[in-house]
Amino acid sequence: MSSSAIEKKIEALREKIRHHEHLYYVLDAPKISDADFDVLMNELKRLEAEYPKLITPDSPTQRVGGKPREGFVKAKHSSPMLSLDNAYSEEELRDWERRVHELSGRTDLEYICELKLDGMSLALVYRDGRLERGITRGDGSVGEDVTLNVRTVRSIPLVIAKDKLKKAGIPGDFEVRGEMLMPLAAFRKLNEEREKQGLAVFANPRNFTAGTVRQLEPSITAQRRMDYFAYLLLKDGQTFLDRQSKAMDTLDAAGFKVNPNRKLAKNLDEVWRFIQSWEAKRESLPYEIDGIVVKVDRTSWQRELGFTGKAPRWAIAYKYAARGAVTQIENIVPQVGRTGKLTPVAWLKPVPIGGTMVSRATLHNMDEIERLGVKIGDWVEVERGGDVIPKVVKVVEDKEHPRGHQQFEMPEHCPVCGGNVVRTPGEVDHRCVNANCPAKLQGTILHFASRHVMDIDGLGEALVNQLTERGLVKNVADLYALKKDHLLQLERMGEKSAENVLAEIEDSKKLPLERVIYGLGIRFVGERTAQFLAEHFGSLDEIMKASAEQLEEVNEVGPRIAESIVEFFADEHNRKLASDLRKAGLTFSGQKKEKGTKLAGKTFVLTGTLERHTRDEAKKLIEDAGGRVSGSVSKKTDYVVAGSDAGSKLDKARELGVSVIGEQELEGLLA
Ligand code: IVH
Repeated sequence: MSSSAIEKKIEALREKIRHHEHLYYVLDAPKISDADFDVLMNELKRLEAEYPKLITPDSPTQRVGGKPREGFVKAKHSSPMLSLDNAYSEEELRDWERRVHELSGRTDLEYICELKLDGMSLALVYRDGRLERGITRGDGSVGEDVTLNVRTVRSIPLVIAKDKLKKAGIPGDFEVRGEMLMPLAAFRKLNEEREKQGLAVFANPRNFTAGTVRQLEPSITAQRRMDYFAYLLLKDGQTFLDRQSKAMDTLDAAGFKVNPNRKLAKNLDEVWRFIQSWEAKRESLPYEIDGIVVKVDRTSWQRELGFTGKAPRWAIAYKYAARGAVTQIENIVPQVGRTGKLTPVAWLKPVPIGGTMVSRATLHNMDEIERLGVKIGDWVEVERGGDVIPKVVKVVEDKEHPRGHQQFEMPEHCPVCGGNVVRTPGEVDHRCVNANCPAKLQGTILHFASRHVMDIDGLGEALVNQLTERGLVKNVADLYALKKDHLLQLERMGEKSAENVLAEIEDSKKLPLERVIYGLGIRFVGERTAQFLAEHFGSLDEIMKASAEQLEEVNEVGPRIAESIVEFFADEHNRKLASDLRKAGLTFSGQKKEKGTKLAGKTFVLTGTLERHTRDEAKKLIEDAGGRVSGSVSKKTDYVVAGSDAGSKLDKARELGVSVIGEQELEGLLA
């Protein structure tokens, strides 16, 4: 094929993929299966790998590109990004209309009602139909350039075809403003994952959105499934269509995601009806809204009305009342979750909020208790937000609501099993460290049995539930004492399946040491760390005896992981568990891997795209040869290994006079 034919083929494929991305991510109406979409994407990736010169930045394969950054640069907005004045009642809304009537000298204004999406506002600058920059609001006149993160959001077009723009009536250079948000489903799932990993959870999707947009690593933003709704269309910082309702339709026609729940109202009565109808319906939306934005539709009248200091006079945000109530805390009780985290829960005098009786509210952790200054007996304001569990917002104090006196303290022993409760320095959560704690048991067993760990096929959720509920399995070691008779007592368990499960359990004993280490469920010890620990120490006994300092000698093990391992084996329940697993016949020793010494004492920094190895491979090669790989260049760096597209790290290396080598030279050092 001639090179121009290939170029055409690649571009046609990209256009097809963009079309399907639009159907899927913007319109929520896919026309092909995920598998078929992957086929198209893989074909494009294959062609681009074959002809790397033909890769363009707006290719659908290039959403996650570039390298992690050290920080964000500031970017000036084309015109100020304003906020909105709020109205909290029908009366305040009517006051606003009265002012608008007075100032404009008209009473026949039409209003567009839009949902007030509760995320983070963001400007998208397009040049020649291509997404050039994404900028956060910042202080309104200067924000941060978060382009690399914005590019990962699939409902944001990277490029819009010229004819499409022309048809929609948009010039090549234009700007879109809108709201970045995290859908509730993604929010709940990601928080759950964070909790499992022992990371602090986010209080609401808005905070999570803000944290995600300002991620330094774009691949993390990409994983978080953010969404973007457009609501303003500008040229040179100004609106250019005659109506906001038209701007919304135009944005829609150009391929942006525009919220369909909007209405052009002839008067304030219609506006009010829209507001009321969404008050209840908002619960069923897949994302959070905190009110309704009402805008004068005609842009010429908007211009006439102008702005006050920080907000337009032509728009107002009607804010829904938080679904809250005031009640008294009768007790604070720690509750142990599936991951062993102890959450202080406020037991409340039952109170109705938004139609349901609320008698429990989460206080999250000790930091939150301190921040609120809350004590048992206090009267508090409780709110039900996007999360299912209500939360305590603040302490109320007046004549009718005197303060409580009793301070809550986190217990030193788990209320469920008596195991040690620890709070790792620098972390907010307290946890029970006993791996056998019944509160954690089901999760622990499922982890233990999963494919990457002990690979016990057939030991799924249904079976684990029955085994733990009947008390047949109180820790993972008990799995190895199970007999056919035990299994036959269970529901949906015939001879054959019982035999299969037992055979799977037996087989798991042959798996190597690193699997057993991973299976113990030590916090922060994942598959890779388990592997390094096994290679370094060669036996579980050595690991159990090791001090934090000795553990820190292992690849990728820092103080946090080392501390967690020491803590784990300091608990007698866990030592007993290890000894039971040994008795059951699991693999407790392995091959100690002797580290090379070629690169001993040398520190490397990898930057840019390497050709022959992935970053992880290169890192492993260096580490296996006794070297260390660091994320940032300093005077202590011995070598910077630079691939193509190397950026600021390379500059830094040159500035500090650090040796810069290529992949081939690295191989030379290793040989
Ligand atoms: S218009 C000058 N429309 O609410 C116009 N804002 O409280 C200002 N917001 O900063 C923005 N949904 O982040 C507009 N449909 C919508 C909106 C919306 C949510 C946010 C936006 C703004 C904040 C003001």
